[in-house]
Amino acid sequence: MIFIFSLMFWVVVDSHKIQNQIYDRFPEDFFFGVGTSAYQIEGAWNLSGKGESIWDRATHTTPYITDRSTGDVACDSYHNYREDIRIVKQLKVHCYRFSISWTRIFPNGTVNNVNQDGIDYYNNLIDGLRAVGVEPMITLFHWDTPQVLQELGGWASETMIVWYLEYVERVFELFGDRVQVWTTFNEPANFCQFGYTQVSAPFLNSSGIGSYLCAHNIIRAHAGAYDLYQKKFKSRQKGIIGISLDSFWNEPADPNSEEDKKAAQFSLEFYFGWFAWPIFKTGDYPDAVKLQIARRSREQGFPRSRLPVFTRQEQMKIRRSFDYLGLNHYATFLTKPDNQTASMFPTRQNDRNLIESVDPSWKPTSRSGFTVRPESLRKLLLWIGQYLGSHVKIAITESGYNGADTETLDDPERIDYLNGYVQAVLDAMNQGANVKAFTWWSLMDNFEWGDGYTKKFGFYHVDFNDPRRRRTAKKSAKVYQNIIVTRKVDPTFNPSYFKH
Ligand code: BGC
Repeated sequence: MIFIFSLMFWVVVDSHKIQNQIYDRFPEDFFFGVGTSAYQIEGAWNLSGKGESIWDRATHTTPYITDRSTGDVACDSYHNYREDIRIVKQLKVHCYRFSISWTRIFPNGTVNNVNQDGIDYYNNLIDGLRAVGVEPMITLFHWDTPQVLQELGGWASETMIVWYLEYVERVFELFGDRVQVWTTFNEPANFCQFGYTQVSAPFLNSSGIGSYLCAHNIIRAHAGAYDLYQKKFKSRQKGIIGISLDSFWNEPADPNSEEDKKAAQFSLEFYFGWFAWPIFKTGDYPDAVKLQIARRSREQGFPRSRLPVFTRQEQMKIRRSFDYLGLNHYATFLTKPDNQTASMFPTRQNDRNLIESVDPSWKPTSRSGFTVRPESLRKLLLWIGQYLGSHVKIAITESGYNGADTETLDDPERIDYLNGYVQAVLDAMNQGANVKAFTWWSLMDNFEWGDGYTKKFGFYHVDFNDPRRRRTAKKSAKVYQNIIVTRKVDPTFNPSYFKH
């Protein structure tokens, strides 16, 4: 109840920092959450009427998952959702961010064929969360495209926009009376860039063409979903709707080099700005990105740019199609220009033409290239405030520490990361960043895409050898609970474990 009030406060009143106000702790209208996504936790991939997604297909047929594992069972949240609600409640978070598996409710992707068991599952989860005072925050698409629709072109096809809008309309109708916060897409830049390389499903090989078509259609689908919600649901359901974009932080490799400074800025625009600039600013891609792709396309002999063009009408609809920006942040890179010539086979890497590295003195995590740099989150938040304007409310929808599969319940590295990154958010707010929420990734260890089960992001350990997939809190879970309750970071807090 208290949370619903504060959420409305966030929506209605812009409680953006009063000039020169210094917070010694997070304000009352700031909310903390924890997140997961459907394919990574649900399991039951073909039970109770669920249809196949591109991740089901990829894990069953491609060799790209490090440990050759699948999400067939994962954390088995489909059967263990009551246990998920119990641990979410134990953390004392205000909201739980999870995604809907499109093919669990519409097995073929199209809305003519409805799976009631799937609807029951999400109803139970939503109602169960609300019963313990936790607000559901729903991501409508977290990478698991229906396989049937992929075979008809997936996100490279503009027909996907129509199928997506039909799907989200039904989801708003089904659950919107009890859901206040919606996210249209999770990390579309990641999905579109890496899904057209051999990193992520659908594992296609077309980052120089397919990635741009995918992004173009996702941006139009996002704007369509925003518009649909405003016209048909907002007045009754009164929720808010945004998109979660991921961004690294880029530093110039040489802080004194103008070229490297430009390269770092271009890297942010090329990846984050690809989606953020159209949606949060102009309705169109950033000029620097348009120019670079047009130039490369010309050099490669294309009669026009490989970057598609929005119509004037589309631009009007895309521009400002948000209530908030969801931001996912994990890593920092040193950046400088590369001197690649135009490749015959177009790729995003060749378009971008940059070299990235990490400083060997930075503290590593178990994923190569991902380091612990809390000040990067502070800098990124301030940069976004300038780039998009400080009126844009930011909810950090993901940040988290990836541990090795040897980690134990005693996880000082995760605690360090957590304290550092949460403090960085408060520091950024004290310098003017308009941040309203922090949602940790992840509630529990789960299927980590191409890394299978070899990387651990959870506050809760999951025993993947136990048929019941028992969840056990790590020490960091208690630290997060303390941050939420006290609304501040206490680096000296050294808890015992939760009692189980
Ligand atoms: C994704 C999550 C993923 C996390 C850690 C993000 O890119 O949204 O699904 O598990 O990073 O790699």
